[in-house]
Amino acid sequence: MSKGKILVTGGAGFIGSHTVVELITRGYEVILADNFSNSRKDVIDAIDTITGKKTTCVEIDLCDAALTEALFINHRFDAVIHFAAKKLVGESVEQPLLYYRNNLQSLLNVAESALLSGCSNFVFSSSCTVYGQPDVLPVNENSPLKRAESPYGNTKKISEDILQDIAKVSALKIIALRYFNPVGAHESALIGEYPLNAPANLMPVITQVAIGKRPSFNVFGNDYNTPDGSCIRDYIHVTDVAIAHVVAIEKLLANESALPFEVYNLGTGNGVSVFELIDSFEKVNNIKLNYTLAPRRPGDVEQVWADTSKANKMLGWKAERNLDQMVASAWAWEKQLHEKEIKHVNQ
Ligand code: WQD
Repeated sequence: MSKGKILVTGGAGFIGSHTVVELITRGYEVILADNFSNSRKDVIDAIDTITGKKTTCVEIDLCDAALTEALFINHRFDAVIHFAAKKLVGESVEQPLLYYRNNLQSLLNVAESALLSGCSNFVFSSSCTVYGQPDVLPVNENSPLKRAESPYGNTKKISEDILQDIAKVSALKIIALRYFNPVGAHESALIGEYPLNAPANLMPVITQVAIGKRPSFNVFGNDYNTPDGSCIRDYIHVTDVAIAHVVAIEKLLANESALPFEVYNLGTGNGVSVFELIDSFEKVNNIKLNYTLAPRRPGDVEQVWADTSKANKMLGWKAERNLDQMVASAWAWEKQLHEKEIKHVNQ
């Protein structure tokens, strides 16, 4: 008998796949829904290898209201974790309509279908991008939200507003989790950050340079008003982020979530600069990285890191893994991925 049946939309993605593993290993039945527009089906095999169980996977376009409603009616979920969204900041600037339509339409369909089917527990994948460049650091959940730097970030802000309004007048109990910078990979190195196209995020760019997929990378700006001149972020191990989703689900299922709509920062509370992350990666993995100093990247905030006290206190959750563990796991994953790709080519 499982502890509950959970729908994980976008479950084949980076954070989604790690959350599916943590849910299944803790005794939940998971239905993984994905349209595989930005993920690969071999992630499902890797999840099955890690958990020793067969994951039920549904390939679906959540922008289709009828299909989404049927999914909820057929399964009668106890809760839903909604990751599914397009998440490339740069792409969202070039194609705002695609992002507003995809991310908001799918959210509306999932929320409405949850309500119609009597699934009242909803965890939403949000982002620290809603804070923009905070005036005060560390940033807490009551810090003022700023105009998002990108349509992607704006879809997260709008989605939170939609969910908050629904929670006021319905049975839906919602927890929105604002991720800072999830990095690293599962300890098995069988799942990790698996970009379909050239990654834009720092950690996969670093591991692709380290493995030789790219000759070098740019450090976007060393003239910021920070101790070493590079931008500061709150990097958090993806497994810590995944575990936070299980904790949020358990709070909702136990009807222990304080208000119908709650928001939590998912960070470590530590600000780490680009150069500090590079130094940790080189030291821990004994690798010299090849990079070039380049101009600032438009849209980057200078520095942001989390006040995590609300999640620590209200969820009883705290990030446990440190920066060295993040860079070691990211590298182990990239090496495993490379070996798999070489085997595939030689077949
Ligand atoms: C981090 C730092 C870059 C690449 C991302 C997502 C955002 C949100 C938070 C989920 C910045 C620098 C990067 C490179 C570099 N996630 N950098 N060279 O921009 O903080 O935001 O995580 O919601 O949606 O986009 O992450 O990894 O792109 O950048 O110097 O080749 O690394 O300038 O200072 P970011 P990032």
